[in-house]
Amino acid sequence: MTTATLNTHTFEFISKLIRTKAAIVLEPTKAYLVESRLNPVARDNGFDSLEKLVLELQRPGSQKLTQQVVEAMTTNETSFFRDLHPFDALKQQILPELIEKRSKERTLTIWSNACSSGQEVYTIAMIIREHFPELLNWKLKLIASDLSTQILDKARQGTFNQTEVSRGLPMPLLIKNFVKNGLTWQIKEDIRKMVDFRVINLVEPFPIMPTPDIVFLRNVLIYFAPEMKRDILNKVRKVMKPDGYLFLGGAETTMNLNVAFERTQIGKAVCYKP
Ligand SMILES: C[S@@+](CC[C@H](N)C(=O)[O-])C[C@H]1O[C@@H](n2cnc3c(N)ncnc32)[C@H](O)[C@@H]1O
Repeated sequence: MTTATLNTHTFEFISKLIRTKAAIVLEPTKAYLVESRLNPVARDNGFDSLEKLVLELQRPGSQKLTQQVVEAMTTNETSFFRDLHPFDALKQQILPELIEKRSKERTLTIWSNACSSGQEVYTIAMIIREHFPELLNWKLKLIASDLSTQILDKARQGTFNQTEVSRGLPMPLLIKNFVKNGLTWQIKEDIRKMVDFRVINLVEPFPIMPTPDIVFLRNVLIYFAPEMKRDILNKVRKVMKPDGYLFLGGAETTMNLNVAFERTQIGKAVCYKP
């Protein structure tokens, strides 16, 4: 028995499914998380136990339920201006440098990967509007992707509660860029329209897309096994511009995973050159 109510077979089935579909590694110590996240999914689909949910997942034609289970097991923690330093580096060095380098083709692509509810890409969009408005006349592509269709719907809508806007977002930017609807705040339409939200699963081959100059891939590799991190970093390096920049989360690194990426410090931010 893994916990009082979750048997080993059920846990192992779920953990294998999540690893195959999303690369997320669930150690047996995470059995409590499986229960707390999947009991509501089981209930909503009319099953009175996780064992019955697992039986259904093994039947052909259960793709929709499988997607619900995978999405329920993702962690969507994020915030505006998360960790601050990468955005300072973007503002003070990376964007000025790339604006100069790309001044002929006037094309710039930024990819916010595993974007969750969109705070990261909206932070980037606000920085651009605030400090680099000339980019709005370029072929500027802000691509934001995640495997979860549910979280992407929230991101596309750009509606945040008071707690979400209170985390990291300076008050003047809130007032300037959001509209208050009752208890929530919606980011203005012209900012929402700047972003191309897409479903992209890091486990799968990347779709054809404009070559990113800057990639944010933060706070997602931590959930994966080393061989999967290696594979994803290789894929990212292959698709990005050779003079571009990669940002990882504060607890993530390319060290021992991909020797080709060169670690660079910009102010207090760490980023990687392909
Ligand atoms: C903790 S959030 C990080 C959000 C944002 N990058 C940040 O740093 O604030 C992790 C996100 O990764 C997404 N995710 C997990 N596995 C994924 C995969 N295999 N492919 C794409 N996205 C994935 C989850 O759905 C979730 O929204």
